[in-house]
Amino acid sequence: MSIALAQRPHPIAEPNPLDVERLRADFPILGETVHGRPLVYLDNASSTQKPRSVIDAISEVYQRHYSNVHRGVHTLSQRSTDLFEGAREKVRSFINAARNQEVIFVRGTTEAINLVAQTYGRANIGAGDEILITTMEHHSNIVPWQMLCAQTGARLQVVPINRRGELDMDAFEGLLNDRTRLVAVVHMSNALGTVNPVQAIIDQAHRRGVPVLLDGAQSAAHMPVDVQALDCDFFAFSGHKLYGPSGIGVLYGKEALLKAMPPYQGGGDMIRQVTFDKTEYNELPYKFEAGTPAIVDAIALGTAIDYLNGIGLAAIAEHEHQLLAYATQRAAHIPGLNVIGTAQDKGAILSFTLERVHPHDVGTLLDQLGIAIRAGHHCAMPVMDFFEVPATVRASFALYNTREEVDCLMDGIQQVIEVFA
Ligand SMILES: Cc1ncc(COP(=O)(O)O)c(C=O)c1O
Repeated sequence: MSIALAQRPHPIAEPNPLDVERLRADFPILGETVHGRPLVYLDNASSTQKPRSVIDAISEVYQRHYSNVHRGVHTLSQRSTDLFEGAREKVRSFINAARNQEVIFVRGTTEAINLVAQTYGRANIGAGDEILITTMEHHSNIVPWQMLCAQTGARLQVVPINRRGELDMDAFEGLLNDRTRLVAVVHMSNALGTVNPVQAIIDQAHRRGVPVLLDGAQSAAHMPVDVQALDCDFFAFSGHKLYGPSGIGVLYGKEALLKAMPPYQGGGDMIRQVTFDKTEYNELPYKFEAGTPAIVDAIALGTAIDYLNGIGLAAIAEHEHQLLAYATQRAAHIPGLNVIGTAQDKGAILSFTLERVHPHDVGTLLDQLGIAIRAGHHCAMPVMDFFEVPATVRASFALYNTREEVDCLMDGIQQVIEVFA
């Protein structure tokens, strides 16, 4: 028997522009007020808000279908297993992986990258070998490799960026050499918005037989991703940035690589046979999913993917692109506002500093106006070092944001400037 959650109307794919007002009604939190003002939520690169269908899915599974997965013969366990494996199939289709065995449920991008570092890395990377990353990586695509280097004697090499926040592709080519064992690069930078030329990176790395891991934490919710067309070897993303729950994410890996990798953690579900002498590991993907997984969160991630598919990622990308263009144009007219990250190819992230005002003060004052932005180093301290700023203000857009919200942000920034004048 296969089980399905209650059918809910999903938005119907339609040509741009999106009917944003209708979509906003799907997100209960957008009706909230903050300090008596309507919420303007522009912290989407950090985490997105959740549509009602995702919230309802969580509640429905706990109320009607919940049990542990893969272990029981009883009806609820079978239902939960069906829903959980159904979510895996939705993820597979969403990123166009060739098979479900290549979709590993993890806690998020961070865990996915640590998994690759500690299994693929430990098995294949040794003293004198090199791992190639870039200046614009999130800490979660830096620190796991530093830890691996400390364990193995491998070296981290870093591709530089230019003042627009674009990768220096000549330097990339120069750094790729016979010692390179892995390229790990962010698809879209959370601190700058830069969308990297990942196809060229993958093609060049593969010409030398070097596998490529893409950190898709920012890209997955903002552009269509096809792991087979890209031919990336690993792709990592997080559910909570994709309108789904936190605590669930995905590591995609090519089957041949995953098969050859040792397991990450030991425990239940990842084994086929255990004796005190020897343990035989389970097949993919379970070999990498020790212990009870985030069952309901995985199922609700599937619901979030249904929601996105109902709108269409290409339409979302177009809408967000228009918002970014409008915000960038308005920002250009604010004296003392300095945009950090002006790459040719950018996702919907506007990072900036204001002369004489610390980003944290900007964030606090905007919050008083009901506007949620992020102020800080965005877990990308090397980017801050490169641009010689302690932090930036970051507004990041999602499918439910509007031009009016961009106007609110810009008017709010003007007010901040007046306070500090
Ligand atoms: C580019 C990038 N990589 C990795 C991460 C880490 O994601 P998570 O905290 O969901 O594991 C983030 C989160 O902000 C990110 O933006």
